[in-house]
Amino acid sequence: MKILILHGPNLNLLGTREPGIYGSLTLADINAKLVELAVEYHAELTCKQSNHEGDLVDALHDARSWAGGVVFNPGAYTHTSIALRDAISAIGIPVVEVHLSNVYAREEFRHVSMISAVCKGKVVGFGWRSYSLGLRALIEMLSDKK
Ligand code: DQA
Repeated sequence: MKILILHGPNLNLLGTREPGIYGSLTLADINAKLVELAVEYHAELTCKQSNHEGDLVDALHDARSWAGGVVFNPGAYTHTSIALRDAISAIGIPVVEVHLSNVYAREEFRHVSMISAVCKGKVVGFGWRSYSLGLRALIEMLSDKK
């Protein structure tokens, strides 16, 4: 089973970016934890990050040809991007939306997600564990299907 872990804008700065909100792990630390978890499930991860909306659209399109599903933190594009929403709808593989912070306990503009309605599910507020919970759920769901 192959899964894409996709990180959006500014997440490359994790570790130093507002650690009170996003924690002190770097993106490489989080990816390493996810790879460790995936090994337990015999799943194979590809991890990508981009600060550019179009690159994220391209990564979603590309995943259609090789991935069973995607764990996606679109960063601030969550709140603005109809292009990402349309890409998720178009690819027809399950996408799990994740956020490190509890977006509902923050500014009102973060309460809106353009993508939630087209995602399989969503995990917010557990720091890096939002990713591991989302990944676990996705893998278990994909395994059930077989
Ligand atoms: C975030 C929440 C977004 O509102 C913010 O723009 C981010 C990170 C999170 O993981 O908590 O960049 O997606």
